[in-house]
Amino acid sequence: MSDSSAAANAPVTRVAVLGTGYVGLTVGVCLSQLGHRVICADIDASRVERLGRGEVPFVEPGLESLVCEALQRGAVRFVLGVAGAVADAEFVFICVATPRGEDGAADLTALRSCVVEVGPLLAPGAIVVTKSTVPIGTSSVVSGWLDRDDVAVVSNPEFLREGSAVHDFLHPDRIVLGSENRAAARRVRQLYDGIDAPTVITDARTAEMIKYTANAFLATRLSFINEVSTICDALGADIDGLVAGLGSDHRIGLEFLSPGPGWGGSCLPKDTHALLHMAASAGLRFELLEQVIASNERQIDSVVRKITVAVGGVLRGSVVAVLGLAFKAHTDDVRDSPAIIIIGRLAAAGATVRAYDPAVRESNGAHHLAGTSYEAAEGADAVVVLTEWPEFVDLDLEKLAAMMRGRAVVDARNMLDKASYTEAGYQYVGLGR
Ligand code: UGA
Repeated sequence: MSDSSAAANAPVTRVAVLGTGYVGLTVGVCLSQLGHRVICADIDASRVERLGRGEVPFVEPGLESLVCEALQRGAVRFVLGVAGAVADAEFVFICVATPRGEDGAADLTALRSCVVEVGPLLAPGAIVVTKSTVPIGTSSVVSGWLDRDDVAVVSNPEFLREGSAVHDFLHPDRIVLGSENRAAARRVRQLYDGIDAPTVITDARTAEMIKYTANAFLATRLSFINEVSTICDALGADIDGLVAGLGSDHRIGLEFLSPGPGWGGSCLPKDTHALLHMAASAGLRFELLEQVIASNERQIDSVVRKITVAVGGVLRGSVVAVLGLAFKAHTDDVRDSPAIIIIGRLAAAGATVRAYDPAVRESNGAHHLAGTSYEAAEGADAVVVLTEWPEFVDLDLEKLAAMMRGRAVVDARNMLDKASYTEAGYQYVGLGR
């Protein structure tokens, strides 16, 4: 980032951000940090009211302090409804949700209603920037909905991971901008002045496709390593050493090679299905990606099998302590969380599940919610780690054992020290270790 004096001297640009989920809110407050004046809009009245008080209604590290700072500086405002945000804006970022529809395609209902509403209200020459993940070709559809010759549409996909969204915004690997109007794309790039990152300027369809293929590629890597961990189990190789050796090849790299209980969250599952759907609509089968998704389902089966063996072969009547409900650490998001899917399977098979997550404080009814890891372990035949929260590394093994009736631990994140557990008398089961 540039120093604050450079940001202070930059001309103030008026930006509207529509949608205050983790993407919209991160985009809004980070743009305000870069020196722009931002109005963030949402249709959820209680969310807008809480944000106005500096309260972020979900877990996203670093975001709340940035919101408070921006409010104090008067650099950001929160308004109810999109109409109040756009009249004056030079740039309008669309950050509304595009959830998975019934047929696997992205559901553009929220996007459409927002675009149709703001179209007539936009200032002459405004630029609409789509951040929401949208099917290939949506930019031109948005132009049609706007019905404004003077308004350019630029696709600017986000690559923000939940749990590190602020860091990812301020230190991106690249900035992707896609538009038929290259001058408009370059103007959007200027908004990010002060952020040092390679920029890819392309047509809108390609920018939209980059987003889907990035998530599909990450999913492919994860399914690959999950399958390899199963093969390690069968052949007696060790996944930790394997990953070190494999990932040290700079063409492969070490990131996104940690085996887990399956990839989940609000993006990878939705976007892989949407890409399959888009390929199918062009008459193509993306068979490799179909297999990647099928492999992810098998990974859930595999973890459920390991848990079944750990409790003695029969789930009915067993007690399982689950550590972690969120789809990954540093978030309270349980959308498409493998933990929730696995708990559903255990409960359906007759196990009693006692679960603890440092950030998720609600139960969907399939499990009892415990206040600590130890409380979750009460009477448990097995402790199962499903989310990689750092605090699970530091468990007191004696205290844990004293709570349990069995001695099995299934580490579906390969994060515990296998030797310590084994020495303490636990039956330790990891993924390929
Ligand atoms: C993902 C992408 O990483 C972001 O670049 C993208 O912007 C975002 O989707 C989006 O489309 O909005 P996110 O859904 O926050 O981000 O989660 P990831 O960090 O990608 O993790 C996805 C899943 O893979 C999680 O269930 C996680 O636990 C799992 N994972 C990740 C592993 O099992 N092993 C790993 O090594 C990494």
